[in-house]
Amino acid sequence: MYKIGMFDSGIGGLNVLEEIKKLIPNENIIYYQDSSNNPYGEKTDEELWTIVSNIVEYLIDKGVKEIIVACNTATTRCIKRLREEYPEIIFIGTEPAIKVATDNNYKNIILLGTPGTINSDRLHELVNCNQSDENIYLIECSGLANAIENHDNDTINSLLHNYLDEYKDKNIDSVVLGCTHYGYIKDQILNILGNIKLIDGNLGVAKQAKRMLEENNLLDGTEEGKIEIVER
Ligand code: DGL
Repeated sequence: MYKIGMFDSGIGGLNVLEEIKKLIPNENIIYYQDSSNNPYGEKTDEELWTIVSNIVEYLIDKGVKEIIVACNTATTRCIKRLREEYPEIIFIGTEPAIKVATDNNYKNIILLGTPGTINSDRLHELVNCNQSDENIYLIECSGLANAIENHDNDTINSLLHNYLDEYKDKNIDSVVLGCTHYGYIKDQILNILGNIKLIDGNLGVAKQAKRMLEENNLLDGTEEGKIEIVER
């Protein structure tokens, strides 16, 4: 039996899994790596809901009590409905860490995300409740998660230049990685923008996942946790 389920449209959420393993090493985790449906960020709401609810039901059948949505797109577009439709499950979301950037006094912040995330109502709430005098530039990175999933370095580099070159003279001090796949292209982003801070929400997700297990008296693993990755 698995206590924790996780999913993403492929390899992106493995970056979240790394943090989870460090913080909660004794729990059995099943990770659903849904590469066949990548990119989530370019699906309609109904297409995405069908994909996500099928995965959630698969994970519930495996006995999970907590599901970590290791994907910003699925979180910003589906987590509210997931919590309504599956109230017996604890859902932990992955959201663009804008608050981390503003709390650390960064002033010229780029947020990179999929079209699905950048155009979500939730993203605009996150910007509105955290922005005061900062410049927050939202960049919709169509095609980027898919190029990362396919290890297509030429496409990754040309897309990044398309999206970022115009910001080279804007005193950018930080980039929020608003898609879990972007954790794999940190070096390429730094090559273009130079000495800036890269921010992701992975540690925050792991802390929240642990806190919710504790609050629900579910944190009881004693042996080294088993990790299963289901590749689709
Ligand atoms: N890794 C996902 C995210 O965090 C989704 C990427 C995609 O499939 O478009 O948004």
